[in-house]
Amino acid sequence: MIFLDLGLQPLANKYLNFNQIKKHETKFRLLLDFNVKTKIVSIKKTFSSKKMFNDTYPYRSSMSETMKDSFLKLSNKLKKKYKNKKILEIGCNDGAFLKNFDNNCSLGIEPCKNIANLARKKKINVISEYWNTKLSNKIKLKYGKFDIVYSANTITHIKNLDNVFSAIKNILETDGIIIMEDPSLLECIKKNTYDQFYNEHIYVFSLIALSKFLKKHKLRIFKVDKIKVHGGSNRYFICKDQSKIKIDKSVENLRREEMKFSLHKLKTYVNFAKRIKNSKIRLIKILKEIKKSGKKIIGYGATAKSVTILNYCKINSSIIDYFLDVTPEKINKYLPGVKIKIKKYNKNSLKDIHYVFLGAWNFKNEILKKEKKFIKNGTRFITHTPTPRIIR
Ligand code: TYD
Repeated sequence: MIFLDLGLQPLANKYLNFNQIKKHETKFRLLLDFNVKTKIVSIKKTFSSKKMFNDTYPYRSSMSETMKDSFLKLSNKLKKKYKNKKILEIGCNDGAFLKNFDNNCSLGIEPCKNIANLARKKKINVISEYWNTKLSNKIKLKYGKFDIVYSANTITHIKNLDNVFSAIKNILETDGIIIMEDPSLLECIKKNTYDQFYNEHIYVFSLIALSKFLKKHKLRIFKVDKIKVHGGSNRYFICKDQSKIKIDKSVENLRREEMKFSLHKLKTYVNFAKRIKNSKIRLIKILKEIKKSGKKIIGYGATAKSVTILNYCKINSSIIDYFLDVTPEKINKYLPGVKIKIKKYNKNSLKDIHYVFLGAWNFKNEILKKEKKFIKNGTRFITHTPTPRIIR
């Protein structure tokens, strides 16, 4: 059942060169769907992996200290608990996680060749192909089975979930574990972060929906950690049904919380949609009032998430002059759809800037800390979550 229409949207990570801004862009209607039977929340129209993840992919995990720190902490825990185990990462990006492991017992999968090469520079073993049963068979023949399969912010990007989990099971030792982390649907509903939805984020999972789905594959969640990254994510620990691992109480705790928020009911999503429509009106009002007062607004963090907000709210360069970002692949390009220019960040970028729209709101703490000096001098950040406001 469709519950929200986020309008015509471009492909989120397709930042434009100057000579592309006048050309035709692929656009699609971003509709959000709740499946009453499976409880899965997904986007309606999807694109092939080849169209989204190729050798011009701009996203790098290592661009944020928060992510590097989160990966390091998990790596240390895993290395302590599971000594000398073989680990496979699906969607290893530039190696931000795997660089913490010995390359004799680790392997990364990253289909975007430009990003895979960045990981290889860190001496990580990488196969640059799409994750599916064919690749899983090929890897099993060459490397055998794995004890741990890890995947962060990747599985929700692949449409054919049945194939994803068949391929993982095929390569997983009987006592092996899967660790999967992705933005939490509960946090998304609580924080009104509708920008978690764009063409790459095909699914945003609740524990309720994921555990129901995994049952089909004779897999079960035995532990879940709520983590702060990406605006609140769940790190699910999954094992085969026949495994001896006991189920931790964190699973029941989160299930209860999700039930309390009625994540299994359509009315929750209908109400969410109403809040999002109000969020749009309020954000536009705040930005337009600032503009009317003659002050300049820029954006900080040219995220894929921002693409959803800007295109949904029709905020273009007449409102936000430009965005700042640290990612080399994004600098001097333009945000898809709304065509706002992205400039290179430097530590004085916020000098004399009054208002900053926080595109990378999921790194709010890291960014506000970094820009403390300017905030003290009067620079103000604007966020859309949980409701649009100027951060005081
Ligand atoms: P992110 O929120 O991880 O993802 P997505 O694009 O999937 O929505 O992207 C964060 C972006 O913000 C990324 O382009 C790097 C940029 N960034 C900065 O420019 N400065 C910073 O201090 C931080 C933390 C991020």
